[in-house]
Amino acid sequence: MTTTYQELHRPQFHFTAKTNWINDPNGLVYLDGVWHLYFQHNPESTVWGNMTWGHAVSDDLIHWRQLEHAMFPDEHGTMFSGSAVVDHEDTAGFGAGAIVFLYTAAGRHVDPPRQFTQCLAWSADNGMTLTKYEGNPVLGWIEGDNRDPKISWHAASRQWIMPLFLADDRFTLYGSKDLKSWTHRQDLRLEGDRECPDFFPLVDESGEERWVFWGANGLYRIGRFDGTTFTPETPVLTCENGRNGYAAQTWSNVPDGRCIQISWMAGGLFPEMPFNHQMSIPVTLELAGSGEAARLRRWPVREVESLRERKVRIEQVTIAPGSPVAPKTDAKLMDVSFTVRRGDGRALNVNIRGQALTFAWDEKEMRFAGGQAPGMVKGRAFAPLPEGESLDVRLLIDRTSVEVFLNGGDVSASYCFLPGAYERPLVLQSWQGNSTLERLELFELSSIWQ
Ligand code: FRU
Repeated sequence: MTTTYQELHRPQFHFTAKTNWINDPNGLVYLDGVWHLYFQHNPESTVWGNMTWGHAVSDDLIHWRQLEHAMFPDEHGTMFSGSAVVDHEDTAGFGAGAIVFLYTAAGRHVDPPRQFTQCLAWSADNGMTLTKYEGNPVLGWIEGDNRDPKISWHAASRQWIMPLFLADDRFTLYGSKDLKSWTHRQDLRLEGDRECPDFFPLVDESGEERWVFWGANGLYRIGRFDGTTFTPETPVLTCENGRNGYAAQTWSNVPDGRCIQISWMAGGLFPEMPFNHQMSIPVTLELAGSGEAARLRRWPVREVESLRERKVRIEQVTIAPGSPVAPKTDAKLMDVSFTVRRGDGRALNVNIRGQALTFAWDEKEMRFAGGQAPGMVKGRAFAPLPEGESLDVRLLIDRTSVEVFLNGGDVSASYCFLPGAYERPLVLQSWQGNSTLERLELFELSSIWQ
């Protein structure tokens, strides 16, 4: 299991396994200076299967070090997605400060087959060794392929809360005082979404606590939670507007109160590589507005700025059709910010290593070419463009992905690509009229694997 991380299509500031397949981030927890990233992994192949928990750690959320695999399939099933919390008050009896993991044992994939159940593991050595609980499963089969427990602490009712995916767009919430015995609280739906629920508190702009119920497609609702019932106040909203962001999960026990999330970039192409798929860059989630008008804003963690190296600037310039503008760089890794005024142009194309990110002003849509693995269509074909004559754009560009953040994170979208033919790695073109670039600032980024 070795690599120099220098292969042609190896992402340079996004996590990939040294070899083989990854999907969902799992067991995200911070403890004593260590950010843990466990993940769905097939240790034997570049396609999905043999689900095992892989493990990587970081001290800054950016530079990752892959460790030995954390959990292998057992008689209960293969190791599907799950989460982790720090049990500061020893509610579960594994010791104060133990990390407790809840995960799905996918019984259909073992011989003889069983139902899907929810199981527990714990660690007293900061996540280095995981011990499976002898009383597993802690929650028996409910229906279908019920799965993906994501634990959080509800302070007011002093209990652990666990959302689970049931089937279609249906989910369920359970509560527990000790992480081992679970009581049903509520069934709920998240129309248009499925799998990998997350359920977490945030403070809104008026200083009130609200809870966010989130599904694998990046759809969510915000509302009140009293320990028993989640009462949504917003309609179903979209946070992940791209084609390739899926199964995001938030970290627990974050030291500075930030809500930090990472997602699986599903459906990328990595031809002839020894690995398959990558994680997103970690982002912070914040609530803007309140009540029915509350919504999430998503923004790259500030730690990514530690990778910034050479800076290239372009001051105000009008981009006329047929006269593209290209910052003077040959970089493949970039953190780019610009403000663009639409002018009378119909569209602005930002060509990223030959693949067009299109801001179609009339259609109020953002689209991205770039290529997607067959059978892996998860997200949306286009993202809505925010209203207004000018648009703030931030792009994080790695070898095979671009993450887009508009107007400070009001709209965000994750895309994977393979480079096409290109001369300059970033070229801006205006179509059928002018667009005005107010200001562009580009940082070439260093690799985390150096
Ligand atoms: C989402 C998912 C989860 C499941 C895991 C299996 O991508 O299907 O629902 O736990 O992947 O690998």
